[in-house]
Amino acid sequence: MRVLITGGCGFIGSNFIRYFNSKHPYYKILNVDKLTYAGNLENLKGIERKGNYHFVRADISSASVMRRIFDKFRPDAVINFAAETHVDRSILSPAPFIKTNVVGVGVLLNLSLKYHVKKFLQISTDEVYGSILHGSFREDSPLDPSSPYAASKAAADMLVISYYKTHGLPVLITRSSNNYGPYQFPEKLIPLVILNAMNNKKVPVYGDGMNIRDWLYVEDNCEAIDLVFHEGKIGEIYNIGGENELTNLYVVKYIIKLLGKSESLITFVKDRPGHDRRYSLSLSKIRRQIGWHPKVSFETGLKRTIEWYRKNQRWLKNAQSGEYRNFYKQYYSKLGLKEF
Ligand SMILES: NC(=O)c1ccc[n+]([C@@H]2O[C@H](COP(=O)([O-])OP(=O)(O)OC[C@H]3O[C@@H](n4cnc5c(N)ncnc54)[C@H](O)[C@@H]3O)[C@@H](O)[C@H]2O)c1
Repeated sequence: MRVLITGGCGFIGSNFIRYFNSKHPYYKILNVDKLTYAGNLENLKGIERKGNYHFVRADISSASVMRRIFDKFRPDAVINFAAETHVDRSILSPAPFIKTNVVGVGVLLNLSLKYHVKKFLQISTDEVYGSILHGSFREDSPLDPSSPYAASKAAADMLVISYYKTHGLPVLITRSSNNYGPYQFPEKLIPLVILNAMNNKKVPVYGDGMNIRDWLYVEDNCEAIDLVFHEGKIGEIYNIGGENELTNLYVVKYIIKLLGKSESLITFVKDRPGHDRRYSLSLSKIRRQIGWHPKVSFETGLKRTIEWYRKNQRWLKNAQSGEYRNFYKQYYSKLGLKEF
């Protein structure tokens, strides 16, 4: 099978390519990634030597470039991880989110139709459902995104479903909760807290810290995506969660404790506008239809993650150079936290 994977140099995409390649060593993989600030070729070190893996630097929203790639590679399947993914950035500057997450998905769908792709898997997020104070979202719950990031992902989901309904394109969608684990760019909560606490820097917490997220270890997500890709029913959406619903403050305090640091590092900052209070997914469909459930406990996953960041200081240093520094200088000064 020839599988075109987009966004494979990012956090989940790179973990997935490793997992997928070890499970299906005879599949041919073409990784198409623009290498934005979040994409890092180092994330796939070792894989590039395998004969069945190839990488092309390209932007999924460029129709002409992507057409040449489809024409040459002739994929049987497409798995789309490529996206702009950071909510804070989408608030400051939404245009790249619309371009990649909406226009880019439109380009991939058009080409998948033209080149008779047999499976199109869109990697989506629980954020498309918005916030829920009680109960959990099912796959047929209405979409109610709050941030420009979530809205762009919801728009993409709608496009994907429309290609199934209108053109019969064989599509699947996974909507996962917050992932954590190795290779996550240190702008997202868990690696940011690890990084700052390790260096005795202040750890910013939005609002009262009581926002709830469901934490999913990235390897569990990779396993679920692989199963949905092979066994999911065409035209269907599958929620993927970790069954670890925790407040941000609990997560931050837990990391600080595991690192042996002081809670005095915690600094409460003005809440993010449109900040969803709680995300929660019902996993009954994926359990029933696919037989998948999350395996890694939050304690185990977090210990593994901290260990990985401890051992990969060079990766961290590289990730924090250039663009990262510029963005955070601007962002933290907006929050009145110049010391970051
Ligand atoms: N991280 C999470 O907790 C989470 C949760 C649910 C869903 N998701 C979804 O999973 C997918 C992967 O998320 P992630 O956390 O690994 O993201 P990431 O930000 O770590 O990586 C995104 C990757 O996409 C690439 N990319 C961006 N724009 C591109 C473009 N125009 N063309 C080609 N490549 C482009 C980047 O270079 C990068 O390698 C996204 O679609 C995201 O919406 C993530």
